[in-house]
Amino acid sequence: MPREQPDFVVIANRLPVDRVTSPDGEVLWRTSPGGLVTALEPVMRRHDGAWIGWHGAADEKLRPFDHAGMHLVPIPLTEDDVQEYYEGFSNATLWPLYHDVIAAPEYHREWWDAYVRVNRRFAKKAAQIAAEGATVWVQDYQLQLVPQMLRALRPDLRIGFFLHIPFPPTELYQQLPWRREILEGLLGADLVGFQAPGAAQNFIRLVRQRVGHKTHRDTVYLPDGRTVLAKAYPISIDAEGFETLSRTPEVQARAAEIRESLGNPETVLLGIDRLDYTKGLPQRLRAFGELVADGLVQLDDVKFIQIATPSRERVNSYKLLRDNINQLVGRINGDIGRIGQQPIQYLHASYPREEMAAMYRAADVMVVTPLRDGMNLVAKEYIATRWDNRGALVLSEFAGAAAELKQAYLVNPHDINGLKQKMLEAINASGRETSRRMKALRKQVMENDIDRWANDFLTELNAQRDPHGKTTRPIS
Ligand code: G6P
Repeated sequence: MPREQPDFVVIANRLPVDRVTSPDGEVLWRTSPGGLVTALEPVMRRHDGAWIGWHGAADEKLRPFDHAGMHLVPIPLTEDDVQEYYEGFSNATLWPLYHDVIAAPEYHREWWDAYVRVNRRFAKKAAQIAAEGATVWVQDYQLQLVPQMLRALRPDLRIGFFLHIPFPPTELYQQLPWRREILEGLLGADLVGFQAPGAAQNFIRLVRQRVGHKTHRDTVYLPDGRTVLAKAYPISIDAEGFETLSRTPEVQARAAEIRESLGNPETVLLGIDRLDYTKGLPQRLRAFGELVADGLVQLDDVKFIQIATPSRERVNSYKLLRDNINQLVGRINGDIGRIGQQPIQYLHASYPREEMAAMYRAADVMVVTPLRDGMNLVAKEYIATRWDNRGALVLSEFAGAAAELKQAYLVNPHDINGLKQKMLEAINASGRETSRRMKALRKQVMENDIDRWANDFLTELNAQRDPHGKTTRPIS
């Protein structure tokens, strides 16, 4: 199959790599941030196909190219597109709305127009390159109109859609002035995947109420006889790949070095997140600061590393969060630190996979406390690196991962006292207890890896339509 006509196409807002220009003018490719890329990159390497997406820089047109065994097809975004479609509608309207309105969503008509315009650009590119009867897999909230647009252009394609973030409760979703258009956009797919069964149910209910289609369980019946299936497929990681990386002598040596540089404390706690208001960073830092201030843990024994990866830095709520976290870390370290003893090591930077693996290996307790999160793959990565069954995971009930990782120390991050107590339990747990829990967590993560996720989704997508575009699923 020539590369120009792939029969498997992934469409995501971002390509797996960002084009960055260093201060001395050198052009570099850097792994894009976020869980979507972590999950899909190994899938793409195992399928021969094309990945359509934006390369992270404005006002730049690039030709398709091959990178690390993947065929990448860049979509250009102008500076206006970046402001209105990416920073605006995607990340200041949909992102907060879909995450329980933790920040207030903004509704602007120009942003919506840009969303429609850019979605059409992605759909056209896919329609142009996909082979006859190809499978096209559209990803995430930035591209919810693409399935319908693409179907109108290319009815021969099999179209799947997966939402990596939560789908909001119907009461919140109703706020969206373009709620019907988005539902109709998604209904262009044959299969719409969500992280959790509740999200799929929300979607089905909204389709019934707002679009008026007949539905039964996980199936929507469209007037033209087509059916759309909506189901949950909890996403995962390349668990084996991550474990293998974490076993290399280089990563193990680096993990030892990290602990050494902290003064070899008894317990290292770790948080790794994109700097995002959904991640519950203030709650966990406050809880840790109070544990030290209350004398429940000793400064000599315990250190907290918090990595915050820069994200969406020009969006207002992200700018505010950055300032808040800087202040909070400064205040806590100022209040409870001593000379040569900084309780929280806060780093605002992104790191390569090797360094992340070393940090996971260096950490006794991983603290993941989002207020709302579609899945949270950092929690799964930590578990994949704990091949010696050591280490404890403190995990928010509001992360999609909590449904699978039941042996974690589950917390409600809004409840600071409860959070303190669980963190303390995790710090003081016996080796037997942590190893019992970690074994169960590892079984879950190692068995349900990214290959299984992709196979489950793509098998269902292929079963959903026969080559003539008619549904093959009988009405039950
Ligand atoms: C989340 C989203 C992805 C997004 C990533 C990074 O994982 O689900 O769609 O790509 O965050 O965010 P960014 O805005 O930098 O692409």
